[in-house]
Amino acid sequence: MTKITIAIDGFSSTGKSTVAKQLAKHLGYVYVDTGAMYRAVTFYAMQKKLISTKAFDVASLIKQLPNIRVHFVFNEDVGFAEVYLNDLNVETEIRSLDVSSFVSKVAAISEVRQKLVEQQQKLGAEKGVVMDGRDIGTVVFPDAELKLFMTASAETRAKRRYDELLERGDRVAYEAVLKNVQERDYIDSNREDSPLMKADDAIEIDNSNMSLKEQFDKILHLVNITL
Ligand code: C5P
Repeated sequence: MTKITIAIDGFSSTGKSTVAKQLAKHLGYVYVDTGAMYRAVTFYAMQKKLISTKAFDVASLIKQLPNIRVHFVFNEDVGFAEVYLNDLNVETEIRSLDVSSFVSKVAAISEVRQKLVEQQQKLGAEKGVVMDGRDIGTVVFPDAELKLFMTASAETRAKRRYDELLERGDRVAYEAVLKNVQERDYIDSNREDSPLMKADDAIEIDNSNMSLKEQFDKILHLVNITL
């Protein structure tokens, strides 16, 4: 059967990764969470004290990029690939609100994007891939056979992220999560290099009022008519 490239872009916490994982599993495709790659680089910068609420040493981060190795390892137990930073599993650490609060600044650096986009293009070179992010349909795979653009209201998205953080034991305020979602939307949509935008040929899906099953069925239908 022919394999295609499925590009899923959209705002923060629109459920891109949930549906991308479901699709990859159903189709036997590789799933690549590109947000996790930007988060891993951000986590590195935080550990090396290159970024904080007070300062951001962009020049040193760019200089250290060759020392940063981000890769994925499939975890049979959870059923998806987890992200590693220089051979350390950082899947949990990169999802914190702290990392979320710096990641859009790191992702706006062209040198960071260039390194990660190159790696993403290699990961998807053989097709049979579901990749989610902000620039997959516009920059990473402009020729993807199926492009989706996910949206939902900021409040719906913040509530989802808030519930996720609570579930993993992070004590955060809903208002802080909403503020982070709105700030990231703004920075991601307004940066100079590869801003978040809907590709002309992407299909927009607003899932504010959709159950996970409804969303999956709708997207699977789109896959089937594309294949
Ligand atoms: O998808 P997730 O919310 O984990 O992404 C974290 C951040 O990484 C985004 O807010 C964005 O700043 C950045 N990102 C990006 N391009 C991608 C994926 C993520 O700039 N393809």
